[in-house]
Amino acid sequence: MTGKPVIAGNWKMNLTPDEVREFFQNFRPDFQDRGQPELLVFPSSVSLFAAQVALPQAPSISVGVQNIHWESAGAFTGEISAPLARAAGATHTLIGHSERRHVFGETDEDVSRKTKAAFGADLVPVICVGEELDERTAGRLTEVIVGQLDAVLPSLQGARGREYLLAYEPVWAIGTGETATPEDASEAHAILRERLKEVLGEDEGMRAPILYGGSVKPGNASDLLKAPDVGGVLVGGASLDPDSFAGIAEAGAFI
Ligand code: PGA
Repeated sequence: MTGKPVIAGNWKMNLTPDEVREFFQNFRPDFQDRGQPELLVFPSSVSLFAAQVALPQAPSISVGVQNIHWESAGAFTGEISAPLARAAGATHTLIGHSERRHVFGETDEDVSRKTKAAFGADLVPVICVGEELDERTAGRLTEVIVGQLDAVLPSLQGARGREYLLAYEPVWAIGTGETATPEDASEAHAILRERLKEVLGEDEGMRAPILYGGSVKPGNASDLLKAPDVGGVLVGGASLDPDSFAGIAEAGAFI
């Protein structure tokens, strides 16, 4: 992986438009002459516009949506299409977040269709994969995460690295305070990287950053970001507070 680390905040079903404005007023990471990492936040769609308006007050930061539908328009009450999200100012979209998979029953096929829809609308998909605790303890880590990756690999053929991002988020570490160790993260990232290289070729397979997500906080971000092949972090709970997210962003400042 080459390039800036990516520090992404997934705000889930939190932060009203006013709270988003307040967040950006108070988000002041200090990069102290070091390069700024790539910053990314995923507000609720109803707060997307507020984020757009507030952005110029903050360091350079991109905004994405947390989910899209695979169709571009039509009778899908309650859904948001990739072209709608793009037109509203989103540049990125999460796809296949574990809550989408496990709470809303999203399948690998859905994830694949959404990835295609994102590319079609010029949105950068952040494709999330991760195993559950019983899968890990049964020794099925590789099978599960490679299976989830394989579902989207045909859509990644032809895309250039950084036109998509991957996120490894072990389900047992999301919102639980239970963090994977830097070694756990690197082990899983190496498995994903190997598969990317196998299918996309040495060069292209090396390009996309793989983010780690699951109970990342200011106190553990630096060690995680230093781990081999951890190209960034996807942060839930700790990204809701501007100081805490700034601390994590500072851990991603690069020399
Ligand atoms: P968490 O969530 O940081 O609160 O564990 C991570 C995520 O769901 O992306």
